[in-house]
Amino acid sequence: MITQDTIGNILSAARIEQVVGDFVALKRRGVNYIGLCPFHNEKTPSFTVSPAKGIFKCFGCGKAGNSVNFLMEHDHFTYPEALKFLAKKYQIEIEEEQQSPEKIEEQNEKESLFNVNHFAQQYFENTLFEHEEGKAVGLTYLKERGFREDIIRKFQLGYSKEDRTDFSTFAREHGYKPEYLTKTGLSIQKETRLIDRFHGRVIFPIHSASGRIIGFGARILGADKQTAKYLNSPESDVYNKSKSLYGLFYAKNSIILKDNCFLVEGYTDVISLNQSGIENVVASSGTSLTQEQVKLIQRYTSNITILYDGDPAGIKASLRGTDMILEQGMNVRIVLFPANEDPDSFARKNRAADVESFLAKNAVNFILFKTRLLLAETAGDPIKKASLIKEIVGTIALIPDGISRSIYIKECSSMMNVPEQTLMNEMNKMLRKKFSKPIPDQGKSALDEISLPEVTAPTQVEYELNSSETQEKELIRLLLLFGNEDLTPEPTNEQEPVTIKVTRFIIQDIRNDDLCFDVLLYRKIFDEMEELMKNDVIADKDYFFRHADPAIAKTAIDISILPYELSEKWEENKIFVDAESSRLMDSVCTALYTFKSRKIDQMIAENQRKMKDCKSEDEIIILMKEQFNLKNISLKINLELGRIVTR
Ligand code: CTP
Ligand code: MN
Repeated sequence: MITQDTIGNILSAARIEQVVGDFVALKRRGVNYIGLCPFHNEKTPSFTVSPAKGIFKCFGCGKAGNSVNFLMEHDHFTYPEALKFLAKKYQIEIEEEQQSPEKIEEQNEKESLFNVNHFAQQYFENTLFEHEEGKAVGLTYLKERGFREDIIRKFQLGYSKEDRTDFSTFAREHGYKPEYLTKTGLSIQKETRLIDRFHGRVIFPIHSASGRIIGFGARILGADKQTAKYLNSPESDVYNKSKSLYGLFYAKNSIILKDNCFLVEGYTDVISLNQSGIENVVASSGTSLTQEQVKLIQRYTSNITILYDGDPAGIKASLRGTDMILEQGMNVRIVLFPANEDPDSFARKNRAADVESFLAKNAVNFILFKTRLLLAETAGDPIKKASLIKEIVGTIALIPDGISRSIYIKECSSMMNVPEQTLMNEMNKMLRKKFSKPIPDQGKSALDEISLPEVTAPTQVEYELNSSETQEKELIRLLLLFGNEDLTPEPTNEQEPVTIKVTRFIIQDIRNDDLCFDVLLYRKIFDEMEELMKNDVIADKDYFFRHADPAIAKTAIDISILPYELSEKWEENKIFVDAESSRLMDSVCTALYTFKSRKIDQMIAENQRKMKDCKSEDEIIILMKEQFNLKNISLKINLELGRIVTR
């Protein structure tokens, strides 16, 4: 755990314009910077960076946050990864808190595995470029395959010598423990000796999404039929095959930019396409695609294009795997390569521009692809056609989004020459079956099912009525923007008027009524303000923008930055803020009464529910009295509200 002190140091050192500036071309505009938003496509810049506030906000897509939020959104860093990245950038030493011995043990173990892998990668790369055998055998092979040196370096390829113990011995001499050498699978224990698993092979390091080395693939050089063409690292504490994708580390930025991810079979396909300038490509390497891998891709895009070699048997086998991708709500397209070509060989034989245009021209929607493929097989056989319809409709039924489903039904009906209604009926039958099952895996898909309104409608309405989110949000906004301003409430008796800070006024008023916030993040902000207030500190937006909890910082930024907040025209900006602060007392009271009114409504609804379920006469009377009280309070609150609004 990184200490709070360190987090504070990192957050105050990080300069938003520099952090963002590494990824976005920024131009100065008054006190702010502007640029093209990296989170959505735009031609005129609406992405604004405010060095003074330490935040960014896009007025096109609404994304906003501080430096940590930016790195988490843009590079999909985890929170600790973002902090470590910034610490490195600003040369801040990271202090870590003591953790439980088991945690440390586990963490140390993982670190050790990463360290061994890193050491091995350097060793293999060095062998490839610096040693006679590496150059003569390994590098020659890779170059004959057509890999350019810059690409070989980019993917950190390497070579492991023929000698069966060279690496293991070298690693032992450098203090790496046999335990970790065998756990990563780099070495195999044979009696008392350690043997190099990958000896005599070229090495493809496998990176995690954040670029650390988690394992290796290794290919023999010749076409020796006796041994496996590829050997791969076994699974370990740092390498989970079903949760990693080869090439993702190099692909993620391009996937976001292109809003599409190409999926290929293996290492060589990824590398060759990169050499042709196509970087948004990953491989599932050996195994068929898993749900976790799809989720990984989904962090960056909802579009996936699968590149298949043109072998019909292989295609049919993989169609089933593709259904799973649809189920996750991804748009799937397929590119079929000419016979006897895979993406690797195709990319090597064609110019980069031709590869790109081939992919663009030949990508077809998966459902239409599957329909066409199966249709060719039925050729006038009515029984086969009936099962085809079931098969296709079954696939369409997997798509979570109802609108997409009806579009495909339409398309397929004309392709198969079957009335749309027939397909629709078949699909509804399947959907009904699906939803009558106990809770499906993907809960989301059940919810947007239009043919079952009675299931979805009531929960929707109930949620709206019960939530005081909007009211809580408004109070938090006032606290963040105006917490430090003075209010002078009209005194009730003959007393002298006293001034009070907005924050104190709001918090005391809410606590007097024993109310609290429902939305977790708002409650956290509110509670922290209250804690600080006890020490006479009024924490306003600037405090929360740099908050150590990135979710809190993002919430604060989202709530309190309106377009005029970052407007270049300071005059205009000031007018807006002045206008609101002159009516501050009204704004605060309206927000408080609206919040309470909603809370009372919730209590009344709750009480009503109790009365309905109540069996005992005595209790009913108590509940009825309570109901009367609540209604009375509600009336008063609404009268007050009306008074403010009309004044
Ligand atoms: N692959 C694998 N294990 C195998 C065979 C293939 O992991 N036993 C993966 C590799 O990642 C490889 C991809 O599938 O990059 C493509 O397979 P293939 O074309 O057979 O491998 P190449 O190294 O390209 O061999 P060749 O030069 O014969 O095309
Ligand atoms: Mn190949």
